[in-house]
Amino acid sequence: MPSSYIKGIGFYVPGNVVSNDDLARHMETSDEWIQERTGIQERRYSTKHKETTSILGTNAAKKALTNARMKAEELDLIIFATLSPDYYFPGCGVLLQRQLGITKTEIPALDIRNQCSGFVYGLSVADAFIRSGMYQNILLVGAETHSMGLDFSTEGRNVTVIFGDGAGAVVLSATSETDRGILATRIHADGTHAEELAMINPGSHGGVHADDLTIFGYEESEFGKTFISPKMITDGMIYPNMNGPFVFKNAVARFPEVIGEVLDATGLVKEDIDLLVCHQANLRISQFVQKRMGLRDDQVWNNIQKYGNTTAASIPIALAEAVEAGKVKKGDLICLAAFGSGFTWGASLIRW
Ligand code: COA
Repeated sequence: MPSSYIKGIGFYVPGNVVSNDDLARHMETSDEWIQERTGIQERRYSTKHKETTSILGTNAAKKALTNARMKAEELDLIIFATLSPDYYFPGCGVLLQRQLGITKTEIPALDIRNQCSGFVYGLSVADAFIRSGMYQNILLVGAETHSMGLDFSTEGRNVTVIFGDGAGAVVLSATSETDRGILATRIHADGTHAEELAMINPGSHGGVHADDLTIFGYEESEFGKTFISPKMITDGMIYPNMNGPFVFKNAVARFPEVIGEVLDATGLVKEDIDLLVCHQANLRISQFVQKRMGLRDDQVWNNIQKYGNTTAASIPIALAEAVEAGKVKKGDLICLAAFGSGFTWGASLIRW
């Protein structure tokens, strides 16, 4: 049975740098508060209309393909993970296919909706396709344009200061080398707390307004006109909401748990990890995980300080940056781990 390895990797972030002080001009917050609670110093924002999520993803994908020394037509499958697609439908996968100039309809495009865990979920799908022998070369992209959908008033500050735009991509290819590539992946979900980190409007539930925060049981007299209404907009109910302390508490428990699972599955131990790349949710979460696992500073890679939380893009951006910085050598054991909205979480162990 073949296994899969990362043959090429690349990332792209918009050139527009937005500092904490820039945000403080729009809402009641401060550089000191943001850095102390999240570690974030700045993030990137896309240029409206010019840098959509699929365009960021395409830019990252081109770099990954160049790094893999491959042409887009050599791919067998595209997987695109995002929570901030260009359109409600179709997904970004087909837009990326078009932007890469792929005309071969044998190259399907699959979209993944698992928020911050999207990249690890995508990796597990890609790995399974390659192991089954169905596909040889799969492009996996994680990309986000959060800046177009955030609340820049003080009301939205707990969410808005955290998120940034960007994209990362990998080409996963089949190999017969048994001691190389993805060794194990585990993915999980628990929908019990789905609304604790969510953007619930617009949706097929028919709309939620500020004066009725329950999703189910909401009654709307204007039949068929509730997908998005002016009241939702004036109520500010079209933005993401997050119970920050609750998310934090769950994240710091789930990260070490799922990392432990992939280590157990391979008979390896935490001391074997050369580099842990956690989804960049909050620097304080990553530091908590590092401390809980007893890892040294040189065993972890964090870059949330520069890019904020880029959701599905954060792991491939951080991994690509670590590779570019020479932090990843052939034979190294790399651990990727994610947690986010859903809740969903997962981890993967890779022998580079
Ligand atoms: N600037 C200034 N003050 C802010 C603020 C901001 N950007 N955001 C929230 N506050 C205020 C709150 O209004 C609250 O004020 P109050 O005490 O007067 O009511 C106070 O800070 C504390 O709010 P709280 O939400 O308890 O803060 P916190 O210490 O938990 O930090 C987060 C908030 C969002 C930084 C933190 O909970 C967090 O990072 N959680 C995890 C989020 C995450 O990782 N999400 C992505 C998952 S993939």
